[in-house]
Amino acid sequence: MTDNNNAFELYSQRVREYTDAFAASKGHRPRAFVRTFGCQQNEADSERLRGTLVFLGYEICESEKEANCILVNTCAIREHAEIKALSVIGQYKHLKNADPTLIIGVCGCMGAEKHRTDQLKNSYPYVNFSLPPASDAMLPEALYNAIKRKRDFTRLESVAETPDISPVRTDKSKAWVSIMYGCNNFCTYCIVPYVRGRERSRPFADIVREVETLISEGYKDITLLGQNVNSYNGGCTFAELLYRLAKLEGDFVLRFMTSHPKDVTPELIEVMASCDKVAKHFHLPLQSGSDRILKAMNRRYDREKYLGHVNALRAKIPDIAITSDIIVGFPGETEEDFAATLDIIRTVRFDMLYSFIYSPRKGTPAAEMEEQIPKSVQNERFDRLLALQNSISEELNYSSVGKTLRVLCEGGSKTDSSVLCGRTDGNKLVLFDGTAKAGEFIYVNITDAEPYALHGKQI
Ligand code: 5AD
Ligand code: SF4
Repeated sequence: MTDNNNAFELYSQRVREYTDAFAASKGHRPRAFVRTFGCQQNEADSERLRGTLVFLGYEICESEKEANCILVNTCAIREHAEIKALSVIGQYKHLKNADPTLIIGVCGCMGAEKHRTDQLKNSYPYVNFSLPPASDAMLPEALYNAIKRKRDFTRLESVAETPDISPVRTDKSKAWVSIMYGCNNFCTYCIVPYVRGRERSRPFADIVREVETLISEGYKDITLLGQNVNSYNGGCTFAELLYRLAKLEGDFVLRFMTSHPKDVTPELIEVMASCDKVAKHFHLPLQSGSDRILKAMNRRYDREKYLGHVNALRAKIPDIAITSDIIVGFPGETEEDFAATLDIIRTVRFDMLYSFIYSPRKGTPAAEMEEQIPKSVQNERFDRLLALQNSISEELNYSSVGKTLRVLCEGGSKTDSSVLCGRTDGNKLVLFDGTAKAGEFIYVNITDAEPYALHGKQI
C-alpha cells in the first residue's frame, strides 16, 4: 500500500466515526452538497467527490441550505469562471454565520492555483480547506482537519492514485467515464496542464469493467472523458479502447471528448466509421484558423492538417457532426488572422461552435505575450464570429428538415412540458411529439428547424 492509500484509509475511518456520532445524536446523517462549475471533467469529478462523501457517511442533499458540508468544485479555464465561483463562495458566509460547524471546502482547478488558495485562505476565513482537481483521495484528511477546526490550504498538486470509489451519478441514462487525467500539451493560453498535472491513463481493464457495469445498469449514453482522450495510453491506443468498448453487448451509444487534432489517427476514424455504437460526432477543437496564431498557441498542427482530418472524417462518415472550440482575440491576432478563422469556419461549416474570448491565465506563456488585444476588438470579433456561425447552424438545421434522425429522449422539455426533448448523435437539441420515455432511443422525423433546435415527430 502506498502512503496515499494509507492516509485515505486512516482518515476515512476517523471521518466515519464523526459522521456515525453525528447520526446517533441528530437522528440523520450529516448532509453534503457539491456545487459544480466548468466542464464535463468537473461534472465527473463531482460525481466521484459525492461517492467519497457517501463512503465517509454523509448523505447527499439537493441544496446548500440544508448542508452540513459544502464542496465547491471550481473551474479556472477563464477568469469569468473563477469570478463566478468566488462570488458563490462569498454567499456562503451567511450560511457559516448561521451554523459555525458548517464545513466549506473549495475543490477543482482553482484549488491548484497558489494565488487563489492564498486568496481563499486570507480573504475567506469561513472556508475550511482547498483541494486540487481529482482530489477524492485527499478529501478524508481535509474533512478530518475541518472537523478538528484546522484550516488547510497546503495541497496544490493533483495526485494520480484515486481510491476505488463508486461515483454517485446524477443522471439515469447518461454517464461520464474518465479514461485519462491531465494534459501534456501546454497550449500557451491554457491553465489545464498546470492545475491538472501530467497525463495519466486509467488501465484499460478498469475502464472496460466500468462501462460493462454502466450498460448492465441501463445507461444508454456513455461519454469517455479526458483532456486529450485520443492520447490515451493505458495499455492500448484510444482507437483500440473505443473498438473494444463498442463491441460490448447492449443498446448504448459511446461518445468521447475532448480530442486533440495532433492525435487523430486513421485507425480512430476507421473505428468510428465501422462501429454503430460510436456516435457519429467528433468534437475537434481548432482554436484558430491562422497558422501564425496556431504556432503561437503551440497547437502543433496547421490549417491544412486540420482540414485534412475533416475531409478524412467526412469521406468515411458522410453524415458526421463536427463541432469545435475557437478562441477569439489571442495575443497578436490581427484582422488578417481573424479573417483566416472566419474563412475556415465557412469552409468546414461546423455543426456547432463553442467560441471563447481569450482570457489571460496567470502563469501561462500567453499571459506574458505583448500585443494583448483590447477588449473592444475582442468583443467585436466575437460578435462577427457568432453571427457567421449562427447563419451556418441555421442553414444546417433547415437542411435537416425531412430527414429521420436517431434521438436519445431526455423526457419532457423544460420550457414546454407538452413536448418531449432529446439529443441527436451530434448533440443537437430536438423537440418532438411522441410517446418515448427518458433514456429511450427513438427515431424522429424532422419537420421544422430554428438556429438552436430541431422540431419533429417520433416515428
Ligand atoms: N481563454 C479563452 N478560452 C480558453 N480555452 C482554454 N483556455 C482558454 C483561455 N485562456 C478554451 C479552449 C478550449 C476550451 C475548453 O476552452 O477553446 O478548447
Ligand atoms: Fe489546454 Fe491544450 Fe491541454 Fe486542451 S490540449 S487542456 S487546450 S493545454
